[in-house]
Amino acid sequence: MIRFDVTFLLKARLSIGLLIACVGVPVVAQTSQVAATPPMGWNSWNHFAGKVTDADVRAAADAVVSSGMRDAGYVYVNVDDTWQGQRDAQGRIHPNTRFPDMKALADYVHSKGLKFGIYSSPGPKTCAGFEGSYGHEEQDAKTYAEWGVDFLKYDLCGLRSIMGIYSPRPDWQRASAIMREAYVKMHKALLKTGRPIVYSICQYGSDSVWEWGAEAGGNLWRTTDDISDSFRSMALIGFSQAGLERYAGPGHWNDPDMLEIGNGGMNADEYRTQMSLWSILAAPLLAGNDLSKMDETTKTILMNREVIAIDQDRLGIQGSRMGPLQVWVKALSDGSKAVALFNFVTDDVPQPITLHFKDMGFNGSVHARDLWAHKDLGLLRDSYTVTPPKGGVVMLRIWQ
Ligand code: GLA
Repeated sequence: MIRFDVTFLLKARLSIGLLIACVGVPVVAQTSQVAATPPMGWNSWNHFAGKVTDADVRAAADAVVSSGMRDAGYVYVNVDDTWQGQRDAQGRIHPNTRFPDMKALADYVHSKGLKFGIYSSPGPKTCAGFEGSYGHEEQDAKTYAEWGVDFLKYDLCGLRSIMGIYSPRPDWQRASAIMREAYVKMHKALLKTGRPIVYSICQYGSDSVWEWGAEAGGNLWRTTDDISDSFRSMALIGFSQAGLERYAGPGHWNDPDMLEIGNGGMNADEYRTQMSLWSILAAPLLAGNDLSKMDETTKTILMNREVIAIDQDRLGIQGSRMGPLQVWVKALSDGSKAVALFNFVTDDVPQPITLHFKDMGFNGSVHARDLWAHKDLGLLRDSYTVTPPKGGVVMLRIWQ
C-alpha cells in the first residue's frame, strides 16, 4: 500500500518535550511491565488480510500450541484489520459478522496459554476502511480490556485526513503534533484500563518515530512501510535498519514489520535470512503465515530455538552492521556475540566472506557454534571464511 511521502513529515519535527508539556503524558509508565523482550506471536494480516475470521484465529491458536511454537516463545495471537463492525447508540464498537463474539475468542486464545491482540486506528477509519477509534479512544480501550485484549496495533491510516496532509498546503508541524498526540492519547487510555496491553505503534516510520515512540508509550513502532512476501521487500526493509539500534531496548523496540516465513514467496535460504536478520535486530517476531498448514521447513525456521534465543536475549541490544558487507553483530547477556553473514546477491555466484574476530572485539582464539547447522565449530583462530548460500545466511554464536 503506497502512502504519503514520509519525508514530508520528517520536515515537521516537533520536540517531544514540548508535546509532553502540552498533554502531560505519563511517560513510558506501561513499558516496564510488558515487552521486556521483543514480542513474539502471530498476526493475521500477511496471510489472511481482509478475509480473516474467528475460525481462522482459533485455528491459528490451536496450531501455535500443537506445532510447538508457543513453547518456543510465540504467545501473541493477533487479529489485524477488518474485524470491526459498527458502533451502537452508546458508541461502543462491535465486531462484524466474521467475529461473532470477541470476548469468547479472547477467552479461547487465553485458554491455550496464549495472549490476544487486536487492531485499530487513531483515525475515523482503518487502512482497510473499517471503523477506527477516533473520538472513542477511552471507550475502545475499555472495551478491549473487557474483552481481554493483551496487545493493540494502532495504525495511522485514517488519521492522515485529520492531520491535513492531503490539503494543497499542508502544515507539517501541525500534522506531526496531531499524530503524536493521537498516539499518546491511546496510550493514556490503555493505561487507564489498568490492564497490561502491549502498545504497537504503526505509522510506517514517518517523522522518525524511533525518536519519540517510547515516550509516546509505544512498546514497538514500525520503522518502514509494509513488508511483502518477496526477497526484495524483505531485504530492503531488513538491511535498511542499520543506525536505528540505539533506539531499541527492553520495553521499546524497532519493528521492521512481520515475518513472511512460510507464505511461499521466498525460498528456505531467504526465509532463514529473514529469521536471522530479525533476530539480530531484536525485532518482534510475529509470524504471518497460515499456521494450520505449515511444512517442516517452515517449522524448523520459525522454531530454531538457538536463533530465537538471540532475538530474545534479555539485554535487548539491537545488533548493528559491521563494515561494508552484510555482516551483522549482536552482543548477548552472557558475553558472547551473535554474528550473521548474509549473501543477498541473487543474480550472481555467492561470494566467500571472511570474518575477522578482532573486528568483533575478540582477541585470540574463539569458540564458535553454527546456529543453523546446530554444530559446534570448535576453537577458531583469527578469522573464519564462509560462503553463505545465495539469498541466505550463516549465523554463528561466538565466545571466548
Ligand atoms: C497497514 C499496516 C499493515 C496492516 C494493514 C491493514 O497497511 O501497515 O501492517 O495492518 O494496514 O489494513
